[in-house]
Amino acid sequence: MKILGIETSCDETGIAIYDTNLGLIVNKLYSQSRIHSKYGGVVPELAARKHSLKIIPLISSVLKKINKNNFVNAIAYTGGPGLVGSLLVGATVAASLSYAWKIPKISINHMEGHLLSPMLNSDLIKFPALALLVSGGHTQIIRCDKVGKYVILGDSLDDAAGEAFDKVSKLLGLGYPGGRRISELAKKGRSKKFFFPRPMTNVPGLNFSFSGLKTFTSNIYSYSSKDNQSKADIARAFEDAVIDTLIIKCRRAIEMTGIKRLIIAGGVSANIKLKKEAKKMINIYQGSLYVPSKKFSTDNAAMIAYAGSLRYKKHKDFSLKISINPKWSIADLVSI
Ligand SMILES: Nc1ncnc2c1ncn2[C@@H]1O[C@H](COP(=O)(O)OP(=O)(O)OP(=O)(O)O)[C@@H](O)[C@H]1O
Ligand SMILES: [Mg+2]
Repeated sequence: MKILGIETSCDETGIAIYDTNLGLIVNKLYSQSRIHSKYGGVVPELAARKHSLKIIPLISSVLKKINKNNFVNAIAYTGGPGLVGSLLVGATVAASLSYAWKIPKISINHMEGHLLSPMLNSDLIKFPALALLVSGGHTQIIRCDKVGKYVILGDSLDDAAGEAFDKVSKLLGLGYPGGRRISELAKKGRSKKFFFPRPMTNVPGLNFSFSGLKTFTSNIYSYSSKDNQSKADIARAFEDAVIDTLIIKCRRAIEMTGIKRLIIAGGVSANIKLKKEAKKMINIYQGSLYVPSKKFSTDNAAMIAYAGSLRYKKHKDFSLKISINPKWSIADLVSI
């Protein structure tokens, strides 16, 4: 069975085809980051307009990779969470193609797409597992009893980790998106030149708050000499603080639940230092770590098509209703 995946939750137009026998056949992405970079973040109206211009040409080019006699069997699209205008573009195209091609559509939760993305590398996740979803809009620790049965154990009280990377990047004049740029600069930073707080690690529980760390970084920067070396030192101290905080909370979740399988997914899971520190930590517990390869860390349609292949049986639908949910929580999903 072949699933066409459509991802339009934020500022990447992603189209992919996943085959349940052959795996991922094609995965294309149009990133709008250049358009939004001059504003220092995503402008929702521009994002929706660009999706509507790019989505059909991308689908056409992806369909060239498969034989007309062996066409797609269903369309999986991101139904939420995300920006309302962007989601509507993907959902409308999915409903129209479903009607025209007489094949079902499946609404996929974007965060479940991230959570299952390590499986695109044939890295079969065993459950129960814990998941750290760490992206531009989320920082969550989730207990996953099986596919679709998720309990949120910890959540972000304000800025998500990726959002904090983006805001600090803007502050240091590095541009948007910021995660990769901060990481690059941090390599030139000197260790322990500054020590930044590890927010909420001294209170019990698994919640996160990165907004104060962002303000702390801004204060340190305003008193610094603002030369390249001090910028790199600040980037390093900030990155170390975020990663340390994430690892401390993951370790705490393992201790609390006794579950030693850890998934780390979402855009920030592309961070090399985070992956290295997580591996070190999980080895101490003799557990397993599941992380997507870099191209599947940030938004992509391959993860949506893959989740669609798992949800096809139970959640395929032929209705013409264009249904999205910009605040769709992963905890509201049902198991397959
Ligand atoms: N190497 C990296 N280190 C740290 N952060 C990174 C890295 N690469 C990307 N990011 C961050 O990942 C985020 C983008 O991830 P993703 O595309 O999953 O977010 P999103 O889809 O906007 O949010 P969500 O998935 O919560 O809806 C950005 O905030 C970006 O700065
Ligand atoms: Mg995402």
